[in-house]
Amino acid sequence: MRTCSSPTLVSLSAVTDSQAKQVKVGLLGCGIVGGSLVELLNERSAAIARSTGLELIVTKIAVRSTSRDRGESIDPATLTSDARSVVTSDDVDIVVEVIGGIEPARELILAALETGKPVITANKELLANCGAELYAAAEKAGVDLLFEAAAAAAIPIVRPLRESLLGEDITRVMGIVNGTTNFILTKMAEEGAAYADALAEAQELGYAERDPTADVEGFDAGAKAAIMASIAFGARVVAGDVYHEGISEITQADIAFANRLGYQIKLLAIAEVFDDGADRQVGVRVHPAMVPNSHPLASVRGSFNAVFVEGAAAGEMMFYGRGAGGAPTASAVLGDLIDAAINLTGGTFRSVPSGGDASIRPIDELLSAYYVNLEVADSPGVLSEVSGVFGAHGVSIRSMEQEGLGPEARLVFVTHEAREADLQATLHELRKLEVVTGMRSFMRVIGD
Ligand SMILES: NC(=O)c1ccc[n+]([C@@H]2O[C@H](COP(=O)([O-])OP(=O)(O)OC[C@H]3O[C@@H](n4cnc5c(N)ncnc54)[C@H](OP(=O)(O)O)[C@@H]3O)[C@@H](O)[C@H]2O)c1
Repeated sequence: MRTCSSPTLVSLSAVTDSQAKQVKVGLLGCGIVGGSLVELLNERSAAIARSTGLELIVTKIAVRSTSRDRGESIDPATLTSDARSVVTSDDVDIVVEVIGGIEPARELILAALETGKPVITANKELLANCGAELYAAAEKAGVDLLFEAAAAAAIPIVRPLRESLLGEDITRVMGIVNGTTNFILTKMAEEGAAYADALAEAQELGYAERDPTADVEGFDAGAKAAIMASIAFGARVVAGDVYHEGISEITQADIAFANRLGYQIKLLAIAEVFDDGADRQVGVRVHPAMVPNSHPLASVRGSFNAVFVEGAAAGEMMFYGRGAGGAPTASAVLGDLIDAAINLTGGTFRSVPSGGDASIRPIDELLSAYYVNLEVADSPGVLSEVSGVFGAHGVSIRSMEQEGLGPEARLVFVTHEAREADLQATLHELRKLEVVTGMRSFMRVIGD
């Protein structure tokens, strides 16, 4: 007869709050995410104690200003402006870093790991730039470094990639991982808003910063793409390896054209692996793309995010939810915190899997289909001259539409998959043709 082994530390109805083992938590930062985490912990701690047998207590919180009123959920006695004292305190078992940025977050995390304390972080910028150093320090210290919230906030993607899909041959991870840009593109598509108006509304609603560069130019999505590529392919990918373009050049006319052809324009973060046995390369890019209406990512609207994973055996999977915000991000941090507390009391930790070395495949070598919209002279022979240029560069045309007459004449092409370098060479030559009077736009087409 088979028997079930008992789950780690969990004895559901049996644990009362007074029997729960205390795990002391030190917070670095108490802003949008840190403040929400404390509130969520206050709400959920009894349920967590019942299900895990662990009582998570916030004993210290580092902030810049200790005099600011932070509401009832924060005990002022826990506040300090000396962040290092949180990391070194005997009254802290696990450190949660939600300060953001590179320094002092990096040195504080390294110091915590060196003293054998597990660390939870939501810091995408730090992981996308210094991830390898931090993973190595956690591995050396034999403690957890968990960062679910850094990739897509509330959407569980790091844990599925690290655990559930560990045996899977993952070929591509692509997602809508920036809520601000998806909100703007949805407003443009559904309400006919101009880019500037949609951005202004995103700022009013608090989805976009006053300086929106990190979101609209693709830096934020690039950092998340680097983290997802590192985890999915066990490769060392940093933010600087990610090719990125933003959405600030997208016009209402582009959106209208895309919609008419049956596509939605989305800012996609795409990480792919190319493995021919001898050489392993990873391609990581962020750019706007036309996604066919039939693709699951096309239906991700407003500030929602989603990550689409393709595996050789598992097939296609999509993870959907809130990719930012205090409470959603705090939920992911809390999940990691509980995991780390269970591991700590059980004397174990989770390694970051490494798939070995991989080089970065440059954007020029990556494949996409393309949409090209040209203004042309309305005269005989134009079509064959233009299509000849595509053919000369090995870019095969999948569909072509001729629109308008006279000065309004246009040729709209959608190509089959082609190498980026070949498409760019095609565009370069097309611009020089006398019959091409203007290039309305070009965009990559993904997911057809
Ligand atoms: N907000 C989101 O939706 C979201 C989503 C996913 C991931 N994240 C990540 O979560 C992290 C935190 O983001 P956030 O939005 O919560 O940031 P935030 O609101 O700006 O909070 C930062 C906190 O860190 C404190 N702090 C800054 N420098 C410090 C220092 N040198 N010593 C001690 N404390 C310091 C600040 O203190 P004061 O309160 O005194 O200013 C504040 O409490 C970032 O890495 C971010 O990328 C955020």
